[in-house]
Amino acid sequence: MKTFSVHSCGPILTSITVPGDKSMSHRSAMFASLAEGCSTITGFLESEDCLSTVDAMRALGVTIERTGEGTFVVEGIGGRFTPPAGDVDCGNSGTTMRLLSGLLAAQPFRIRLTGDASLSKRPMGRVIKPLSEMGALFTAEGGEGKPPLVIEGSTLGPLKPLSYEMPVASAQVKSAVLLAGLSADGETSVIEPAACRDHTERMLQEFGVTLKLGAPDANGRRRIALKGPQRLRARDFAVPGDISSAAFWLVAASAKQGSKVLIEGVGLNPTRTGIISVLQRMGASMEITPVDPEAAEPLGTIRVSGGALHGTVIGGAEIPNVIDELPVLAVAGALARGKTIIRDAKELRVKETDRIAAVAGNLRAMGVPVTETEDGMEIEGGHPLKGARLECFGDHRIAMAFAIAGLFAEGETVIEGVECVATSYPTFGATLESVLAS
Ligand code: S3P
Repeated sequence: MKTFSVHSCGPILTSITVPGDKSMSHRSAMFASLAEGCSTITGFLESEDCLSTVDAMRALGVTIERTGEGTFVVEGIGGRFTPPAGDVDCGNSGTTMRLLSGLLAAQPFRIRLTGDASLSKRPMGRVIKPLSEMGALFTAEGGEGKPPLVIEGSTLGPLKPLSYEMPVASAQVKSAVLLAGLSADGETSVIEPAACRDHTERMLQEFGVTLKLGAPDANGRRRIALKGPQRLRARDFAVPGDISSAAFWLVAASAKQGSKVLIEGVGLNPTRTGIISVLQRMGASMEITPVDPEAAEPLGTIRVSGGALHGTVIGGAEIPNVIDELPVLAVAGALARGKTIIRDAKELRVKETDRIAAVAGNLRAMGVPVTETEDGMEIEGGHPLKGARLECFGDHRIAMAFAIAGLFAEGETVIEGVECVATSYPTFGATLESVLAS
């Protein structure tokens, strides 16, 4: 079993490059596979999760060649996938399983999607319900909507278009329905209850799909529609750095007096930059320089200077924008003066692990008073952190968030079972080492 051993360090003075965005890497491999013709993807995140998507597309008959670090040449087959020889293993990746469900709902063959122990406990009913309404046949072999999933695509005939109001703001559900809608005959629409990451919308348009993007109503609900059937056109795509990976260093640098950290080439899609707004609200000093704000996926440079943070409330419509950053934002809350409240974040309970229980338990083990609530937690910040031996429950973001906490603790912090970090940020350990050595 691999561990991170972390101790307190001085000001962090460095420039950090984060690997490619996970959400965009998944989509780039899928959309390029769906397209007619050859696309070259650069900046692709070569993590276990995204490689699960590449392997899945290969199993479906797509030729994908790795021509350099983070560079993949995809020979799109216009969605004319061939039946895989066996099960398609999605590993730990919910994005792979949920987006593939939408992508494959229209295929005229049977396919079985499996996952690891964590993925096998995650709810797939949220995609099964709308996709079944479109006419695809699903069996959740794990019971109660849990994987393995058997999809018997459109053996019932072509998919029916659907108008679907999502009960939770989930980019994965939105994407699954829109991807299925590409093969349905007529207009498929999704209403999201609050803005969630819009990479599918932006990237589908880049690949030549026409979408109707409604304006958010007074309650923040927004309708996204597309008229099927539509085809994708191949195009090259450069994946920017992952702001969810940058988040760990943004928190570390913001909370450590005297730090100066530069992060270049990082994605600044407004549906993902909640981490910046929350940290700024907590008193963090950050300078953002966009490179090309008009790009399909905006990116730029973030300069952070360390100082003192104060507590805040994180909730409501902001939650989908920071959903993956909440573990490390909870660590920021522990380092800040005063109380930090996280609410409306029940979704954290169905991530790679129950992130509310995992974060609250680990913070308590480090001496931080935390009250767990059904949909979040209240953290009494400003208490000195004590080094501890911690579990990460096979969850990459718990492992990395608590490695950051260890940089502020008295004594040694050991995080066990950190192999899972390879699912989203394989070079995190190396960057952590360089920060500890500086
Ligand atoms: C993702 C959407 C989010 C996020 C996940 C990646 C995506 O999940 O937590 O890490 O790429 O669409 P939900 O759709 O379940 O909110």
